[in-house]
Amino acid sequence: MTYSRRDILKIGVAAGLASTTSSHLLAQSNSAVALTAREASMQLAPPDYPETAIWGFDGSMPGPVIRVRQGARVMRRLVNELPQATSLHWHGVRIDNAMDGVAGLTQEAVAPGASFDIDFVAPDAGTYWYHAHNRSVEQVARGLYGALVVEEPEGPDVDRDEVLILDDWLLNPDTAQIDPDFTSRHDRSHAGRVGNFIATNGQYGHSLDVRRHERLRLRLVNAANARIFDLALAGLEGWVVALDGMPLEAPQRVSETVLLGPGQRADLLVDVVAEQGETAYLVRVDNGEGFVQSAFPVIGVSSGARRDAPQALPPNSNMAPPDLSQARRVRLHMGGGAMGRLQSAQFNGERRTFRQLVDANQFWAFNDVIGMTDEPLANLARDEPVRLEIVNDTSFPHAMHLHGMHFREIAADGTLGPLRDTILTFGGETREIAFSAHNPGDWLFHCHMLSHAASGMMTWVRVT
Ligand code: C2O
Ligand code: CU
Repeated sequence: MTYSRRDILKIGVAAGLASTTSSHLLAQSNSAVALTAREASMQLAPPDYPETAIWGFDGSMPGPVIRVRQGARVMRRLVNELPQATSLHWHGVRIDNAMDGVAGLTQEAVAPGASFDIDFVAPDAGTYWYHAHNRSVEQVARGLYGALVVEEPEGPDVDRDEVLILDDWLLNPDTAQIDPDFTSRHDRSHAGRVGNFIATNGQYGHSLDVRRHERLRLRLVNAANARIFDLALAGLEGWVVALDGMPLEAPQRVSETVLLGPGQRADLLVDVVAEQGETAYLVRVDNGEGFVQSAFPVIGVSSGARRDAPQALPPNSNMAPPDLSQARRVRLHMGGGAMGRLQSAQFNGERRTFRQLVDANQFWAFNDVIGMTDEPLANLARDEPVRLEIVNDTSFPHAMHLHGMHFREIAADGTLGPLRDTILTFGGETREIAFSAHNPGDWLFHCHMLSHAASGMMTWVRVT
């Protein structure tokens, strides 16, 4: 048999590929695949604008979707090629504390040029996300985040499974560059850094072709610094099947809107009911007006018939509700902000007047204390049941996120709501959550309106 030069080239390429693959596998067994935080640029604004300089994982925004099976090990080497120290948090994952990625609490920030090896097991199926957790108000706003999808051993019957990350950016309207003022007094003391440019998966005019009668799983993630998304469906009929990664006991029909605070996720199963040639939409409702968040042009008709209403996703294990009768009570009073009544508060161990706090660019207090303290909000024994009352005594909404453990809201009638890792509270509301402190470690508890976290709304609990 003779080979042409062309054939030899082909064989060479194939052999080359094979050897790269095996050396890559070898390398992988010793060190994890890199996830590199670096500068990049992308077309964020409409095509007639210049590209926007962003910070992204592997140079993309959002970063790569990391998909694993439930119970799988996630190994990544965070490589920092940014001009600033960073760290990586896995939002919503019941993770080993050492892997929680909170610079200053669970690890040192990773210096420019340095790296950090991430190695954890993903215990729960669901939709999670990863994001920078050092100077988050800046680093998340610049684009340092992505989705972590943990697949059920047997997922629901769908035609496609799509991650939709919702975000807004604060861009200079002429140059389309990210507004570099991450310490804005106004943003900090009011609703937070709210963007002027909204997109899905970093795409202007985000659109996905679908067929009539198809069923889609939409994994919605709110990655915005401060914006609350209120979402509706048009030409789609859907159910919420999971919130903050955790399956609902029964799918909940989307009749009006789905509210997503910063950090929160919702898994929707939606059926395309729009006709071929029409377009279905995910709609964002803002002050009573609807805007297209994502478009789903219906380019055909599925060969399958429409499905029955979906079943609940299989529950994640080890999620027994806490025993409220034995629960320790903890109170978190939120004060401050514009139109607040904060006269003075503790900051860095000293009592400061409101004027001094404004000068220090600090605006929010938990139980009269601003920012992190040496002592945790609560010292909890392992598996101790806790009920935590959150009093939002401010004029603004706050999305409180507990690291490392999910909680349930205690309704007025004493029943327990679905598992969540972030609770959206509105000004003047008092809400109560409960959980068993099953995960040992130091866990941050903070507002996911990231300007608020940077100006006081940050505390922590210790589980030993
Ligand atoms: Cu999603 Cu402390 O963060
Ligand atoms: Cu807040």
